[in-house]
Amino acid sequence: MSERKNFGAQPFLFPQPVLIIGTYDEQGKANAMNAAWGGIVGRDEIIIDLSQHKTTDNIKLNKAFTVSAADTEHMVASDYVGIVSGKDEPEKMEKAGFTTVKSEYVNAPVIKELPVALECELIKVIDDNKYLGRIKNVSVDESVLGEDGEISLEKFVPITYDPVHHGYYKLGEKVGNAFKDGAKLK
Ligand SMILES: Cc1cc2nc3c(=O)[nH]c(=O)nc-3n(C[C@H](O)[C@H](O)[C@H](O)COP(=O)(O)O)c2cc1C
Repeated sequence: MSERKNFGAQPFLFPQPVLIIGTYDEQGKANAMNAAWGGIVGRDEIIIDLSQHKTTDNIKLNKAFTVSAADTEHMVASDYVGIVSGKDEPEKMEKAGFTTVKSEYVNAPVIKELPVALECELIKVIDDNKYLGRIKNVSVDESVLGEDGEISLEKFVPITYDPVHHGYYKLGEKVGNAFKDGAKLK
């Protein structure tokens, strides 16, 4: 093995997701933002680390949000919603090219262009910035379902965020089978 280099305390976990959070404001207008610091913390639970945004005002208002993984097709729009606030740009969603439909399960918008949406209710905000949500439903555009009727990563191509050089990468090809390939070493 070669030498290891220390980087101190850094949020370097790979792959890091590109989460697009959908919310409604007090007028019922949809908004979206990009968040990388989040992940699944239980079978039906997710935490996203958010500083102060229009999105956080909206989440506190409605106790609800949606989470969609950004995909390669919508990379530019997904980055755009991460660099412009709905507070400053009332046409943010239109400029991103995102259209929405209200979730049937929570008071938050499902972004139609992003194929997989976790529809979540807010459980609580931990330490002022960790938004713990319960996943009430996952809705998926049929275009990314495989022949078995499940989400296919051959059809759905999420991007991941490189926090070191700020790049977006797409997921690669399948390399193995979980709960199976390791059995070779038993
Ligand atoms: C790649 C990327 C990752 C981001 N991750 C986060 C994050 O994890 N938490 C956060 O609070 N803001 C994050 N942001 C910043 C917000 O998306 C940005 O401030 C956005 O404009 C907020 O929109 P809003 O005010 O309309 O809600 C990220 C932005 C980008 C481009």
